[in-house]
Amino acid sequence: MNNTTTLKSQFLLRPDITFLNFGSFGACPKPVFDDYQHWQLMLEREPIQFFAFQSAENLKKSREALSSFVHCHADDIVFMSNPTTAINTIANSFPLNKGDEILTTDLEYGAMDRTWQYYCDKNGASYIRQHISLPLVSKEIFIKQFWEGYTPNTKAIFISQITSSTALKLPVEEICLEAKQRGLITIVDGAHVPAQMPLNLNQLNADIYTGACHKWMMAPKGCSFLYVAKHIQNLINPLIVSWGYKSAAPSHSQFLDYHQMNGTRDLAPYLSLPRAIQFMSDNNWAEVSANCRKLAQSNYQRFCTLLGSLPNCPISDEFLGQMCSIAIRTSAPEQLQRLLYDKYKIEIPVMRHDKAVYIRYSIQAFNSPSDLDVLYNALAEIIDTTDLITI
Ligand SMILES: Cc1ncc(COP(=O)(O)O)c(C=O)c1O
Repeated sequence: MNNTTTLKSQFLLRPDITFLNFGSFGACPKPVFDDYQHWQLMLEREPIQFFAFQSAENLKKSREALSSFVHCHADDIVFMSNPTTAINTIANSFPLNKGDEILTTDLEYGAMDRTWQYYCDKNGASYIRQHISLPLVSKEIFIKQFWEGYTPNTKAIFISQITSSTALKLPVEEICLEAKQRGLITIVDGAHVPAQMPLNLNQLNADIYTGACHKWMMAPKGCSFLYVAKHIQNLINPLIVSWGYKSAAPSHSQFLDYHQMNGTRDLAPYLSLPRAIQFMSDNNWAEVSANCRKLAQSNYQRFCTLLGSLPNCPISDEFLGQMCSIAIRTSAPEQLQRLLYDKYKIEIPVMRHDKAVYIRYSIQAFNSPSDLDVLYNALAEIIDTTDLITI
């Protein structure tokens, strides 16, 4: 058995589906899922001990494991169910005044755009989606174009480190550095980052960062985090106010008190995160991930040629991780995605983004070159036999 087959046997995914959509919600390996269920069982057996007396200590262990993985202090990170909750927490707290601007790109995830737009609308501020020309040519050109959206009213920048529909790694380190020089707060959406590329929050120097652990770290669904640099933690209000506000027994950190106590909820996704980190370490994940990147990137051009599109960027680790996204001309993206699933048993997203549509494949440990052949042959047949895709 080769390594891909061995690792495939560790996942719970249906074997009859060619699964090329790891990017949307990840997938949990069996040992991690077992650990998740173990925590749920502990809760059910003794809910009082679990919540009242053990949860703070257990969450601390998980935060410590996560903080060593993403390189920051364990008290600067809190668990959140998802990046949407994390960004809502930030946008809800951000002191937006009439005329203020939040600078972002036009490549961001739709739910995040809507969150910022909502809070900007409410406060008379503007959410500036700076246009980024695709294909990306170089970091320098990207950075120059991004800052064309800056004005004296810009208060903060919001940017993805890996974009969703276009699957691009953006030069966030450089953007954060320049933003600091301009006196701006930096807010980074790293939903796709942890375990798809190395993340060092101490080095990155973003003020605020969110990442999903249920995507590439393979934790159970509902495990994500919000990092806030110490110097602005006191500015962040709890999105859900609970016992941590004016706490009768405050901990050493208002940030933890405000954001970790959210009422009764399932903590199991957070508590099984150390097992997900262990799983990666047991399986030499740096090498697995490098092989996945190679497989993803080495196939990118042939899909672009098939669909008559250009790659979104130069094909290299500088701009790409384990996902590749191809612009596809179709007037019926939902129908195309349905056909790929129903007829060809391929799970892959076909996403609208502004006026464009992208098909994005993700490569994870269980994918082999033949999965991409299945996709290629299906698309070729759809082009030949239907009018769903125009070349
Ligand atoms: C770039 C990016 N940001 C944020 C999110 C939001 O994730 P969630 O819906 O889990 O909050 C996603 C989800 O895929 C994403 O791709």
